[in-house]
Amino acid sequence: MAERKGIILAGGKGSRLHPITLGISKQLLPVYDKPMIYYPTSVLMLSGIRDIAIITTPEDKEQFVRTMGDGSQWGVSFTYIQQPSPDGLAQAYILAEEFLDGAPSAMVLGDNIFFGHGLPTQLKAADARKTGGTIFGYRVADPERYGVIGFDREGMVTSIIEKPEIPPSQYAVTGLYYLDASAPDRARSIEKSARGELEITSLLETYLKDGVLSVEQLGRGFAWLDTGTHASLLDAGNFVRTLSERQGQLVGSPDEVAYHQGWISPEELMSRATRFGKSEYGRYLQRLLLP
Ligand code: DAU
Repeated sequence: MAERKGIILAGGKGSRLHPITLGISKQLLPVYDKPMIYYPTSVLMLSGIRDIAIITTPEDKEQFVRTMGDGSQWGVSFTYIQQPSPDGLAQAYILAEEFLDGAPSAMVLGDNIFFGHGLPTQLKAADARKTGGTIFGYRVADPERYGVIGFDREGMVTSIIEKPEIPPSQYAVTGLYYLDASAPDRARSIEKSARGELEITSLLETYLKDGVLSVEQLGRGFAWLDTGTHASLLDAGNFVRTLSERQGQLVGSPDEVAYHQGWISPEELMSRATRFGKSEYGRYLQRLLLP
């Protein structure tokens, strides 16, 4: 079976962060010491995925190419795909159909930040399921802002509802979706919602209806950070700063993941470290190379 490929969805208008996002894409904004898109990229890389499509708006594509390059600096490959207008998360699978070429996928939203011990293990469990789909649930105080998972008394998933007025549970669907090769066909079969989008929740509903949707819960030891408002973006940056300063370790660095995966050599890491030598990020990469 074809190896799983990655998709980073980084389009959209970023209108909840206006006026900041009038001139720059949301997913390129800083979250403390690195661009937001570094975080979801490192999640895909942590799970061993090396062939990744980055979906952007046509206007922002060049900025992404400048920031992320072709992926060779991290031993991965980036393919850029344009989404002409933000017609919904599920549209990503239609746009990426040719890139996927019959492979299963892991899609992560470019504005989602995950951090927690044991994440690679949970990602591996999702990767091991070759058919069907896996989503990741996370308990939040304000589920009505997200896709929400409904459960029956036995704890089986019964529904996935986008931003319900009355949430059926406290569990939000995070922006990380492991789906099998049928995702593009399924995405084409769903109808647009009342707000005119191909909703990811409608796509997930098709898996649920077929009895092939698994949910992995990310426990309380995990951080799934919100970057959707000015305040939560600042909070996310402060969270990353607190952790990195306390532990002397980077959070969400594709450079570090690539090095630990053995995808880049010490010399290649050193060249990145030297290039960023004036920033704390670069100095940290240099320290990684110390015995
Ligand atoms: O973050 C998790 C949530 O993400 C899920 O719980 C929801 O089920 C899911 O619909 C989504 O909700 P959001 O309200 O965050 O969706 P938003 O429209 O803000 O889009 C999420 C990201 O995807 C955002 O960075 C922009 C990008 N995007 C969005 C759309 C609609 C695209 O690249 N293309 C699109 O067409």
